[in-house]
Amino acid sequence: KPIVLSGCQPSGQLSVGNYIGALRQWVAMQDTHDCRFMLVDLHAITVRQDPARLREATLDGLALYMACGLDPQRSIIFVQSHVAEHAQLAWVLNCYTQMGELNRMTQFKDKSLQHAGNINAGLYTYPALMAADILLYQANQVPVGNDQKQHLELARDVATRFNNLYGNVFTIPDPFIPEVGARVMSLQDPTKKMSKSDENENNFIGLLEDPKRITKKLKRAVTDSDEQARIYFNPEEKPGVSNLLSMLSAATGKPIAALVPEYEDKLYGHLKTDTAEAVVAMLEPIQQRYQDYRNNMDYLNKVMASGAERASAHAAQTLAKVYDVIGFVPRP
Ligand code: AQP
Repeated sequence: KPIVLSGCQPSGQLSVGNYIGALRQWVAMQDTHDCRFMLVDLHAITVRQDPARLREATLDGLALYMACGLDPQRSIIFVQSHVAEHAQLAWVLNCYTQMGELNRMTQFKDKSLQHAGNINAGLYTYPALMAADILLYQANQVPVGNDQKQHLELARDVATRFNNLYGNVFTIPDPFIPEVGARVMSLQDPTKKMSKSDENENNFIGLLEDPKRITKKLKRAVTDSDEQARIYFNPEEKPGVSNLLSMLSAATGKPIAALVPEYEDKLYGHLKTDTAEAVVAMLEPIQQRYQDYRNNMDYLNKVMASGAERASAHAAQTLAKVYDVIGFVPRP
């Protein structure tokens, strides 16, 4: 089975975007792939985090992973900072990544603008850590959204460079673009993606939010000023309406092409109400299961301990190989 690795940052409450664009695909991939899923807390601190909130978000994220259907029996589920090899390999790869390459990363440019008061070196070398995450497990496939494609390209370049110098140490990972799983856009600014760390709470829907709040946020979602209020799918002409349609489609399983005719004579308000109902119904069972996992700290500890141990066993092999080929003396 191909090896897959992916993760979410515990930089806030996981969003409907994380679920539709990532988690839901990961659940399905468990049948066909050998999966490793992490909560990437090392990545999260490239932006300043409140310690108590980071801790909560990591445990919430873990419980949500399982509530969404990730299964610790079938997949390795772990917290990134529990597996020291991530930071260790990241350092090595930093020394094989060129400043010129990092300078071209658009996420760094975007995040530097958003966090102008804290443009730290970690934010800049984030792609080297991401390369380490992937290469440690010899992953064949990495599910990525568009925004991460550039980072994956860099991981492939660094791995190829390393292999050319030292022989076949790393598997070169391919991007895995899921068939479905549209990009979920911000509710108030549907030309940018929905982000869990958005300052404006009305822009995103958290997976743990109260149904009333979700409904309120969707009813307030920005649409457009088309006087005829036509409902059709075209993200450029109608970003808000298209975002509602794709969320409705993702939540109901109905293709967008089948939904559009149903709204021929209806108003934006109908689309919003239906989308809210569908999203609430999609999240209800997840929220219920979440509570059971989150209240069982013993179980969460077991999952984290076993996940870290299994992940480490794989990661340690790759790191040992890397240390050897670059000329480090093994610890006696
Ligand atoms: N809006 C989205 N639509 C579709 N997929 C999304 N993903 C994130 N947002 C959307 C996918 O979720 C996975 C995990 O993402 P992440 O948590 O590691 O980081 P991110 O992409 O930076 O997500 P956020 O919510 O925007 O986090 P912050 O606000 O902290 O930067 C990835 O596979 C991603 O594509």
